[in-house]
Amino acid sequence: MSDVAAEAARRRTFAIISHPDAGKTTLTEKFLLYGGALTKEAGAVKARGDRRSATSDWMALEQQRGISITSAAMQFPYRGQVVNLIDTPGHRDFSEDTYRVLAAADAAVMVLDAAKGIEPQTLKLFEVCRERELPLLTFINKWDRPGLEALDVLDEIETTLGIATAPVTFPVGIAGDFRGLLDRRDGQYTRYTRTARGATMAPEEVIDPERAAAEEGDVYGAAQEEFELLQGAGGDFDTKSFLAAESTPVFFGSALTNFGVGKLLDAVVDMVPPPTPRPDVDGHPRPVTAPFSGFVFKVQANMDKAHRDRIAFIRVCSGRFERGMVVTHQRTGKPFATKYAHQVFGQERETLDEAFPGDVVGLVNATDVRVGDTLWIDEPVEFPGIPSFAPEQFRVARVTDTSKFKQFRKGITQLDEEGVVQVLRDADLGDQAPVLAAVGPMQFEVAQWRLENEFGAPVELTGTSYTLARRTDAESALKLRGMRGVRVLARADGTLLALFESPYWVERLEADDPSLVLDRLVAEGRQG
Ligand code: G4P
Repeated sequence: MSDVAAEAARRRTFAIISHPDAGKTTLTEKFLLYGGALTKEAGAVKARGDRRSATSDWMALEQQRGISITSAAMQFPYRGQVVNLIDTPGHRDFSEDTYRVLAAADAAVMVLDAAKGIEPQTLKLFEVCRERELPLLTFINKWDRPGLEALDVLDEIETTLGIATAPVTFPVGIAGDFRGLLDRRDGQYTRYTRTARGATMAPEEVIDPERAAAEEGDVYGAAQEEFELLQGAGGDFDTKSFLAAESTPVFFGSALTNFGVGKLLDAVVDMVPPPTPRPDVDGHPRPVTAPFSGFVFKVQANMDKAHRDRIAFIRVCSGRFERGMVVTHQRTGKPFATKYAHQVFGQERETLDEAFPGDVVGLVNATDVRVGDTLWIDEPVEFPGIPSFAPEQFRVARVTDTSKFKQFRKGITQLDEEGVVQVLRDADLGDQAPVLAAVGPMQFEVAQWRLENEFGAPVELTGTSYTLARRTDAESALKLRGMRGVRVLARADGTLLALFESPYWVERLEADDPSLVLDRLVAEGRQG
């Protein structure tokens, strides 16, 4: 095998998805702890107490949160493989970023709170994973606390998400009195001991079934019975359905006390598929051993106020990336020098000299480079754009100091290109009072902060009562413009969007005039 093929085969690139508070950050820290990547104690990754502060000052917030807003991916070696954990921003408010980063992952770990089961954001993110056919591992967290019955959680996953569950581990001891895990893979029982706040790895002891039954008493027998029952019901792990995102292996545990974290990380390495050839826009897969190629899944400007720079995060799809190589930027056809390549996590930047399929590279000063763009050397390729999701929130933006209009124009154009928000313009008003559209309100805060601080154009954002957008065409737009409760605006790429206050209104208009074009926007591909 060539170097590239061998290196690609060692990569495990995945993201963690969860509803806020289910334990994504804690689990990330514990992966670092178990992966040996934490030199200090777990908990040092982020100052936890600051997390719930007001979200008015974005930069300050970013600094406090450490990981949450600006990070992209972290890498650590584990059992001879290279683990790439792509960070999905974990804010309470939902943002489009979260969707996009999933395009860079080869699998996802879904973290559920044992007491809450499937929550709204988990569901949204799960749907993205399903659409991308992203293999999914499930971690049922917080088992150290009273919660739902194990069987009930499994049942909820199956009925709410419509995905088969294959429990790989099963908890011994009721929620709240968590003692250890049964493991289907070797039939053994692992008993854990808590450490203070789980700052160090939890001591564990593998115990054979007879001894376990004698020492743990009734709870062991009960767990074993339930687990066997599940196995009888056909919940076996099946690689094919897992890779097709039709079934999910399930792991129980507690990220806080480290119970089951090692087993989950082992499963990530064993089950997450290595990078596979990525199909280009015409559906032809680019072999991982082809010359370097990659696509941009995130653009982050202004990570460092002192530098005012712009980092494009690339997921490597094929070949070897070497810092300093000159790549071609597919959309513009221009050469692009990669002198400043970094691996970025939290506030830390490390210069990166080479990378392989599955890895994430941060390119500094990536002017002109947008989310969805392809970069390559030697053999041209263009990967499909990253879907932009249907906005659900709309605000009118007005510059408060009219002498700053030029800066305002420049700012909104750039934020639009970066995908921070979508900018929708009225044909008659142009840049006068554009509507900013987003999936979550956090995107507006970031846009407002950057317009003022980075572009020197303070803006006022006014709420609107629109809650959904549909794509329309010029002919329908003419009719819609005369109607009540509809506003037709244009995106920078010329696409016409009709905004509505409620889905019922859309239905009514469609019923009244079936010839109206009002297409849904979900998961629509957008190039650049
Ligand atoms: P998030 O990134 O998904 O938003 O969740 P995060 O890890 O920040 O965890 C949210 C809260 O849940 C934290 O408590 C965290 O300590 C707690 N938590 C995470 N995993 C477990 C677990 O396995 N068991 C229990 N009992 N709790 C868990 P907090 O009170 O909000 O913060 P802190 O005071 O603990 O720092």
